[in-house]
Amino acid sequence: MKIAICPGSFDPVTLCHLDIINRSRKVFDKTIVAVLVNPEKHTLFTVDERIELLKRCTKGMNDVEVVGFDGLLAEYARERNVTAIVKGLRALSDFEYEFQMALTNKVLNPNLETMFLTTSAENMFLSSSIVKQIAGFGGDISNFVPECILEDIKERLCAGGKTQ
Ligand code: PNS
Repeated sequence: MKIAICPGSFDPVTLCHLDIINRSRKVFDKTIVAVLVNPEKHTLFTVDERIELLKRCTKGMNDVEVVGFDGLLAEYARERNVTAIVKGLRALSDFEYEFQMALTNKVLNPNLETMFLTTSAENMFLSSSIVKQIAGFGGDISNFVPECILEDIKERLCAGGKTQ
């Protein structure tokens, strides 16, 4: 069985993330969506909340598993028999950082490949930070995030927009 892992902060999940997850599903038998636990990073949603939002957005996708993880991605991938890390590349600006991570992960786990998917044109500019910024100013984010989590983002930001 070919297993992919899509790692990230997903704070919150966007349509860009979902696009990458769905395209991973076309290539792999199973896609693990791994939410990073990073105590140093201030986030809008806790890890458990981000996992819940992702599970809601991937409901009915039997080939998708949503998990939280801390530690090294390369090690977690080894434990889960993952074939490849699947990541979206939006623009050239993403490349250097992603290239560095891919090469490092290859050293840490030589059996693990990293596959980059170019994001679809409409998602080229989209990021969780931009979504939070627009929503924080009361802007319309319905073109950027799945409908089923729209209210959660609005409510969180209306409640003061505190990061965790
Ligand atoms: O959505 P993000 O914040 O860009 O995701 C970054 C992520 C989670 C993919 C990256 O930080 C990661 O893999 N973290 C796990 C720790 C690790 O393995 N670090 C070494 C990577 S070279």
